[in-house]
Amino acid sequence: MIPLSSPFGMAPMAGMTDTAFRRLVKRKGGCALVVTEMVSSEGLVRGIDRTLEYAEFTEEERPVSVQIFGGDPEKMARAAQVVEKIGADVVDVNMGCPVPKVAKHNAGCSLMREPEHAATIIRAMARAVSIPVTVKMRAGWDDHEVNAPDLARRVEDAGAAAIAVHGRTAAQSYSGNADWDLIGRVAEAVRIPVFGNGDCVEAAELLERKRHAGVAGVLVGRGVLRNPWIFAQAAALARGEEPVVVSLEDRGRFLLDYIDLLLNEGVNEPTGFRHVANSAGHASLGLSEVEGRPSSAAAPVGLASLGLSEVEGRLSAASRLSPAGSVEHASPAARGRQRWVINKIRALCAWYTRGFEGGSHLRVSINQANSIPALRQTIADFFFERPR
Ligand SMILES: Cc1cc2nc3c(=O)[nH]c(=O)nc-3n(C[C@H](O)[C@H](O)[C@H](O)COP(=O)(O)O)c2cc1C
Repeated sequence: MIPLSSPFGMAPMAGMTDTAFRRLVKRKGGCALVVTEMVSSEGLVRGIDRTLEYAEFTEEERPVSVQIFGGDPEKMARAAQVVEKIGADVVDVNMGCPVPKVAKHNAGCSLMREPEHAATIIRAMARAVSIPVTVKMRAGWDDHEVNAPDLARRVEDAGAAAIAVHGRTAAQSYSGNADWDLIGRVAEAVRIPVFGNGDCVEAAELLERKRHAGVAGVLVGRGVLRNPWIFAQAAALARGEEPVVVSLEDRGRFLLDYIDLLLNEGVNEPTGFRHVANSAGHASLGLSEVEGRPSSAAAPVGLASLGLSEVEGRLSAASRLSPAGSVEHASPAARGRQRWVINKIRALCAWYTRGFEGGSHLRVSINQANSIPALRQTIADFFFERPR
């Protein structure tokens, strides 16, 4: 596995961990590895534009892992080659997604039910590329099939360089708690680094769980959507320092910065800013493909169409824009872009405002904001104008 500057990284989250979000979190510090949203191996191999966009990343995010899903060893190997050509540091295989549309294609968590086949995929990929091939899995399929330690050994033998384990079964989805004892057993079963994952929402928990389970590192998913400073705070704690205190203004500024980055994705970017693959599956470092794509960037967020429950629920709610609003006055391309940004902010705020005094009120206001100025004003009113 590649050397990392800290033991903490951001877990992949479809619809949420886009390149803009990843950059902003990296800038806060302490996050040693980011993983893209999951990307279809089929789409990568066939050069589907939307799929290729999910695999894009920028230099600032390095080291970057591109997560792919699929069940066909040959296609997964070819997709890994596309990922390598783009210049990614790591290619990760999704063996944890419980969503039927993924699982029914022998991909995602259903691979945990076919450990030999899963190992065949990893072997094919490891032979096809020279970047590390890693696996993200769950504890198992259900209570009767908790096989993460066994699968971990098999994929290690097949050439995996590291493993991340979300300590829940597919049947659990997100209910109950992640089983960190089980994660510890996976770490004992293999020699390669194991990253534990699940339910870390406080910075101190990253250190405690890492120690408790004896893992090499910890990936954080929803915790970073609630608190993008969680890695910086955990890194400070690890150094024996006081973690940074995040003010309400800081949190408001983060949302405004995210809006700005999203609005400017692919706009006037210098050559080399963004790593992209073109539809022939070739990599390029540059602007040409990106420049012509504001309309595709205006697409609905992430993998909602796969039926991923959290993403789907939030985005379908988020996309109920009323016909009125100042987005109406923009050009169709700009309107599409603005809608996309509004939906992105709504999706993030479903997590970002949790546990906050007045958070539910803010969520309602954000869901009612139908234009970028209205969204910015709503954010300013809540984060910058409230009496202390
Ligand atoms: C909205 C959302 C999208 C997710 N998308 C992915 C994904 O694309 N690939 C993946 O391996 N896991 C995905 N996950 C699972 C997370 O990576 C992580 O394993 C899980 O949320 C548990 O970690 P946490 O408690 O820190 O959130 C997703 C989770 C959420 C909430």
